[in-house]
Amino acid sequence: MEEAGRDQDRTVAVAVEDPSSVSTRDPGSVSTKPARRYPLALWVAILGLIMLVGMYIFSLSLRQNGMLFGVMQTNMIEKEREKPCHGPSIPDTEIPYVHYPTPNTYDRKECACNAVRFFAILSMQRSGSGWFETLLNSHENISSNGEIFSVKERRSNVTTITKTLDKLYNLDWYSSAAKNECTAAVGLKWMLNQGLLKNHQEIVEYFNRRGVSVIFLLRRNLLQRYVSILANAHDSAMKQLNGTHKAHVHSRDEADVLAKYKPTIDKKMLISELKRADKLAADGLANFKNTQHIVLYYEDVVKNHTKLMDVLDFLKLPKTNLSSRHVKIHTKRLRDHIENWADVNNTLQGTRYESFLNGRR
Ligand SMILES: *[C@@H]1O[C@H](CO)[C@@H](O)[C@H](O)[C@H]1NC(C)=O
Ligand SMILES: *[C@@H]1O[C@H](CO)[C@@H](O)[C@H](O)[C@H]1NC(C)=O
Ligand SMILES: *[C@@H]1O[C@H](CO)[C@@H](O)[C@H](O)[C@H]1NC(C)=O
Ligand SMILES: *[C@@H]1O[C@H](CO)[C@@H](O)[C@H](O)[C@H]1NC(C)=O
Ligand SMILES: *[C@@H]1O[C@H](CO)[C@@H](O)[C@H](O)[C@H]1NC(C)=O
Ligand SMILES: *[C@@H]1O[C@H](CO)[C@@H](O)[C@H](O)[C@H]1NC(C)=O
Repeated sequence: MEEAGRDQDRTVAVAVEDPSSVSTRDPGSVSTKPARRYPLALWVAILGLIMLVGMYIFSLSLRQNGMLFGVMQTNMIEKEREKPCHGPSIPDTEIPYVHYPTPNTYDRKECACNAVRFFAILSMQRSGSGWFETLLNSHENISSNGEIFSVKERRSNVTTITKTLDKLYNLDWYSSAAKNECTAAVGLKWMLNQGLLKNHQEIVEYFNRRGVSVIFLLRRNLLQRYVSILANAHDSAMKQLNGTHKAHVHSRDEADVLAKYKPTIDKKMLISELKRADKLAADGLANFKNTQHIVLYYEDVVKNHTKLMDVLDFLKLPKTNLSSRHVKIHTKRLRDHIENWADVNNTLQGTRYESFLNGRR
């Protein structure tokens, strides 16, 4: 095609520049015919090109519309399942976080049109989340369903995680925390090492798609946390309270029994243990920063119960006093809870973790 085109160009050029040659050739076949055929071919080519581009654009838009339509459809299905009962009082920015689930296992009755918020407490072991969750559950409208993903099968892959969350947020999860029909906030507590970081992309996508609010509960003093981990592991093996292991206790007497044990900390492992915990928390914050979230530190909540009202504000729930029967186990100065305090002190002096040494409680 290209060769042919160039040949024709030359012929045309000759025909134009050297009209004298025309007489020696057939006027129809040499000068006029190629000159007419050339624009015609060009027109056909341009027309064809326009048609091709047009068809391409049309097919693209069709595909995109199809996709848009698909998304709209799934959204509609989701919204339909969550029967819209929108009151006019809900501001536009809140709409993604307001839900009206229709559970399969019971009827929400008079509370069917009460808005429900979805939440997830993201935390780490021995960071006060057990205590925090009992505080939330003392609210008549909060159902926080515990460490659902401590069961391995539920977190084996994104499919099982999604299925579990769907059931939870549809108010079909049965646990002792279930408030059933008049629940206004439903959620769980979820440890960062329970498949959360591993599947963070898909989980963030799920949280944002379904309007799940995230409550981070972290601990500032990772040395105190480490003492708590070691003491809890010890009790898990020794079952100090009449032969049963208790991760949380409800009386000072029980707390004192557990607090008697003073762990000896392996000083070679200490820094790497603290680093590991530090990184886990930092990764959690970084990976879930694009969700609607609030960050709480255990120490701050212990010192200042008003922080709990911040949580109720965040979940747009009526303010009530919250209470827990949990009793704190380690209440003395940190040095009184560690057997080899001098080693620990020496190891952490001059490191970024030095301030942990001054921790109390
Ligand atoms: C909280 O629960 C009570 C009944 O237990 C119900 O009357 C009330 O409407 C609920 N509040 C919200 C905000 O859903
Ligand atoms: C996800 O895990 C469940 C349970 O472990 C298993 O039955 C299922 O086949 C897995 N699905 C995928 C897509 O890996
Ligand atoms: C252990 O059991 C005894 C009697 O059964 C009871 O009096 C005591 O309070 C229990 N102690 C603890 C720490 O639970
Ligand atoms: C307690 O927490 C509230 C809410 O976050 C805050 O406004 C207040 O300043 C805190 N009080 C103290 C003494 O830190
Ligand atoms: C919460 O308890 C405090 C005292 O413990 C009391 O002053 C306050 O009125 C209570 N607030 C509510 C909402 O019950
Ligand atoms: C830790 O050790 C330093 C000396 O290395 C000492 O001055 C300090 O009092 C010790 N701190 C505690 C809390 O024991």
